[in-house]
Amino acid sequence: GINIAGLLKETGDVTYDPGFMNTANAKSAVTFIDGDEGVLRYRGYAIEDLAKNSSFMEVAYLLIYGELPTADTLAAWEENIARHTMVHEDIKNFFGGFPRDAHPMPVLSSSVSALSTFYSDSQDPFDEEQVHISTIRLLAKVPVLASYAFKKSLGQPFMYPKNDLNYVENFLRLCFGVPAEDYEIDPDVVKALDLLLMLHADHEQNCSTSTVRLVGSAHANMFASVSAGINALYGPLHGGANEAVLNMLRRIQSEGMKPEEFMEKVKNKEDGVKLMGFGHRVYKNYDPRAKIIKSTAEEILVKLGGNDELLEIAQRLEEKALADDYFIERKLYPNVDFYTGVIYKAMGFPEKMFTVLFALGRLPGWIAQWREMIEDPETKIGRPRQIYTGHPLRTYGA
Ligand code: ACO
Repeated sequence: GINIAGLLKETGDVTYDPGFMNTANAKSAVTFIDGDEGVLRYRGYAIEDLAKNSSFMEVAYLLIYGELPTADTLAAWEENIARHTMVHEDIKNFFGGFPRDAHPMPVLSSSVSALSTFYSDSQDPFDEEQVHISTIRLLAKVPVLASYAFKKSLGQPFMYPKNDLNYVENFLRLCFGVPAEDYEIDPDVVKALDLLLMLHADHEQNCSTSTVRLVGSAHANMFASVSAGINALYGPLHGGANEAVLNMLRRIQSEGMKPEEFMEKVKNKEDGVKLMGFGHRVYKNYDPRAKIIKSTAEEILVKLGGNDELLEIAQRLEEKALADDYFIERKLYPNVDFYTGVIYKAMGFPEKMFTVLFALGRLPGWIAQWREMIEDPETKIGRPRQIYTGHPLRTYGA
């Protein structure tokens, strides 16, 4: 059928386009997506090429500066970020105020927002040096804050970063290490997490990135803008989907439901139940990231001995969906988050941390897009119009 919401309705001098289905808010040279063909490129490089040959830190540099770094530049970039991983001791006080069962996403967004208070003299969006230092600080400190959010939920002491480790190794140790004990790094887990972060690193004008740009368009600093992006990502229709997928798979498993039975519920829109991890605003074909992640899920679960049954349920659901008219007609395919949850779970992360991992991956994209927005002379403060549907003039007391 025709998607009415997607049709532009011209009303006077404003365009009614709920969900911005057809409205571009920016010119951008960062990421290219062809949703019909299932193509994703960062700065012109195919995602498959980068997944095979690059690393998350290299891709972060590429997204932010537009070119792949030389080996020396990459080493200096990683070292610079490593040197900024320490967060002010007082930041830890913020974590004490949250309840123990607080979801780590709002804890992360609050602490990233709070971070701006520690650098209030160096966040002028039009000062290149200050933009540079904010970029480094965010990339360096967000993983530390993310690990604090995690440790807080476990009731465990926070770890200090260990800067002879690489970005992903450091983060894993911050999450799973215990003070005064050695943490054994599993190179397979490092490799898989590095890849997952890279695949999430940017996705043009999605909900959280548009949020970052909109907040930044008011010349809010990078910390405030990224914190807003984290809040947008928290939603289950966006980054929260990875957590929702695992909850769905578990539900199917624990209720002993057949994937076919679940599919019937989805198709009948029973209680608004959706096949989480399926469908995408832009991809009307297989999400190229999902393809890469699916094979990683199969490999890593063999190595880590994760929950094969959940992977099997996911694979069965996918198989059924791809052959089902409901999904075919609506062009619903697995998106990036359909298989990430089973991998994160096998790595030892609880469901609540999944979207935090997405945020960690998306961070370079948010930064690259914020910088592009600030540097673009055509940028204006984001200020959509509306179609007023309320009362005409009323008289008080009449
Ligand atoms: N399961 C079942 N039906 C679905 C699904 C799904 N996952 N996704 C869309 N549909 C149906 C809708 O019900 C609608 O059907 P209708 O025409 O009979 O009303 C049709 O497909 C079109 O869907 P919309 O919701 O209009 O598509 P939209 O582009 O607005 O939404 C979205 C995209 C939000 C991703 C949607 O597909 C969805 O909710 N998916 C599940 C959540 C999810 O996985 N989100 C992650 C997105 S990727 C990311 O942020 C990383």
